[in-house]
Amino acid sequence: MVQFVDRYGRRFPYLRLSVIPACNFRCTYCLPGGYRPEAGMKGPLSLAEMGRLLRGFAMLGMHKLRLTGGEPSLRRDLVRVIEMAAATPGVTKVAMTTNGCLLKRRLSDWCAAGLTALNVSVDTLDSPRFAAITGHDRLDEILAGIDLALASRLTSVKLNAVLMRGVNDEELPAWLDYLRERPLTVRFIELMQTGENRVFFQRHHVRADSLQGVLRAQGWQERARASDAGPAREFAHPDYAGRIGIIAPYSKDFCKACNRLRVTSAGDLRLCLFGEFGIPLRHYLQDDAQQPELVAAILGQIGQKHAGHALLQGHTGITPHLAATGG
Ligand code: 5AD
Ligand code: SF4
Repeated sequence: MVQFVDRYGRRFPYLRLSVIPACNFRCTYCLPGGYRPEAGMKGPLSLAEMGRLLRGFAMLGMHKLRLTGGEPSLRRDLVRVIEMAAATPGVTKVAMTTNGCLLKRRLSDWCAAGLTALNVSVDTLDSPRFAAITGHDRLDEILAGIDLALASRLTSVKLNAVLMRGVNDEELPAWLDYLRERPLTVRFIELMQTGENRVFFQRHHVRADSLQGVLRAQGWQERARASDAGPAREFAHPDYAGRIGIIAPYSKDFCKACNRLRVTSAGDLRLCLFGEFGIPLRHYLQDDAQQPELVAAILGQIGQKHAGHALLQGHTGITPHLAATGG
């Protein structure tokens, strides 16, 4: 296998692939006005193009894939995408991040197709608040879907909650109740500034680091990080089946553990969520015979990956909102 290490010694076994740019939710920090396609936007990669992309990345050591969006479950042939990903030589984990809108209805199909892990965005455990954040009054149904996921063959179920000052930053007691009996991880994600959420960010940003002190004081202990773990820190407690993760992108050294690359639904490689450019790969995905060119193009780009983002300087790169890059 080709060596695949960047200038800072990081490896990239993890690819996040957006399978569709559209989302049906209107999360206040992401798509408050709902999804609108940009003029001149290229359609998402076809199944055949994706297959070539995945085989190329797998040749470079990628073994974990995450399907994202937009909302991935809106893609009609999602089951076939999962099947193909699971059948790609070298790929051992096929995860997906979803808003949960089709979880109850589709989970068993996704599992049968080879899905191994699932992340669901749940910013709050309060129904009216959930409706206010996402524009959809569907918390109960999504929580029922999550319980189904816990009873399924999936090896990992995680929830993502974006922390927002004055919105959901006082829900720790409710989350603790929820986690007592459920073997899943809730990850509190610090709100990130994007091209379009500047004012919202200024109003609601709260440091996720501050939670760590609270958790430690209540007996939660940070778990040792696996060598291939990403930037999340994880806490466990003997009295709880569940775990708590903290994703604090504004903390020092966050990017040191970066282990991921991203590809947008139209096939642009993104070296960083907050990078300044995307490199189109689609023209290398038109024929199986192009694989050496594809692999060379990806390898060439890794040399360009920066040590970290410049969010603290207010540079958000070309990401207007996370739905564009797949979170
Ligand atoms: N800051 C932090 N997290 C975000 N997400 C979307 N936009 C932002 C943002 N600006 C989260 C979603 C989802 C994950 C993929 O990214 O809630 O859980
Ligand atoms: Fe959709 Fe996720 Fe953005 Fe919410 S955060 S609008 S679910 S893409």
